[in-house]
Amino acid sequence: MTKRTFSTDGNRRLPSPSESGRDADPIRTLHQRRAEDIGAMFSAIADRYDLMNAIMTGGRDRDWRRRVVDLCHPEPGQRILDLGTGTGELALTFGRAASGLDIWASDVSMEMMSLAQAKPGAAPICFFQADALRLPLQDNHFDVVVSAFLMRNLPDPAAAVREQVRLLKPGGRLVFLEIVPPEFTWLGKAYKFFMFSVVPRLGRLLSGSATAYSYLPSSTQVYESPFEMLSLLREAGLRQTAFATCMANTISIHHGRKPTLADEH
Ligand SMILES: C[S@@+](CC[C@H](N)C(=O)[O-])C[C@H]1O[C@@H](n2cnc3c(N)ncnc32)[C@H](O)[C@@H]1O
Repeated sequence: MTKRTFSTDGNRRLPSPSESGRDADPIRTLHQRRAEDIGAMFSAIADRYDLMNAIMTGGRDRDWRRRVVDLCHPEPGQRILDLGTGTGELALTFGRAASGLDIWASDVSMEMMSLAQAKPGAAPICFFQADALRLPLQDNHFDVVVSAFLMRNLPDPAAAVREQVRLLKPGGRLVFLEIVPPEFTWLGKAYKFFMFSVVPRLGRLLSGSATAYSYLPSSTQVYESPFEMLSLLREAGLRQTAFATCMANTISIHHGRKPTLADEH
C-alpha cells in the first residue's frame, strides 16, 4: 500500500513514478501546478464533463450529490456555498431540494460555470470565479459549505478545510464528496484497472483530452485517505465529524459542524 504523507510545509508529497509504478511525469507536473492550470484542464473538457461523469458512475453521481444535500438539512433562508462547482450539479441539487435558499457557487473554470449557468434552475444561483484556497469572502458567512470532487484537486487540503471553516457561521455544516484512493476500496485490482486503463481511454475518446482523464486516477492516488481527511476536519475545529463511503468504498462523504459559542463552554 502506498502511504501518502504530508511534508513539513503542509504540501503533499507525490508518489514517485517508481512508487506508483507508472511513468506519471506530465501528470505529476499538473498536480504541482497552480489552480489556473487545473482550471484550464477542466475548461478543455467542460462540454463533455457531465457525459463522462454519467458514464463513469452509471448515473450514480446524482444520488451521491443528493446525499450531500440531505446531510446538510437545508432550510429556507440559508446561505449555501458550493466550491469547485464545475457544471453546477451540486448547487442545482440544493436548488431542487429546498426553496428559498441563497445559493452561491464558485470555480476557477469559467467554461465549466458557463455550462452551469445555462442549465434550468441556475438563474437564482450566484456564480463567481475564485480559487477555493483563497476565497474573497468574509468570515462566518455561510450556513453550509459543500464541494463534490474538488478536494483531491487542491495542493493543500488542510488549508482548504481551514478556509471552508472560516467561511462557515458557528453551527454551520461542512460536507464534501470525493473519490477514495484506490487502496481503500474493496474492489482492488478491478477498480485500478477501471481507473487507470478504462477511464483514460474512454476519456480520450469522448473528451478528446488525454491529460484530463489520466490526471483523474492519478489525483486519487495522491489524495488523503478518508481517515486522514477526517483528522483534518477535527484539527480545523469541527465537531460531530464523520465520513461515510458508498459504491464499494470508492466514494467518501465527509461532514462536520462548526462549533457555536455554547459548544465551546
Ligand atoms: C471534478 S470537477 C467537479 C465539478 C462538480 N463539483 C461536480 O460535482 O461534478 C472539479 C472542479 O474543481 C475545479 N477546481 C479545481 N481546482 C480548483 C481550485 N483551486 N479552486 C476552485 N475550483 C477548482 C475545476 O475547475 C473543476 O470544475
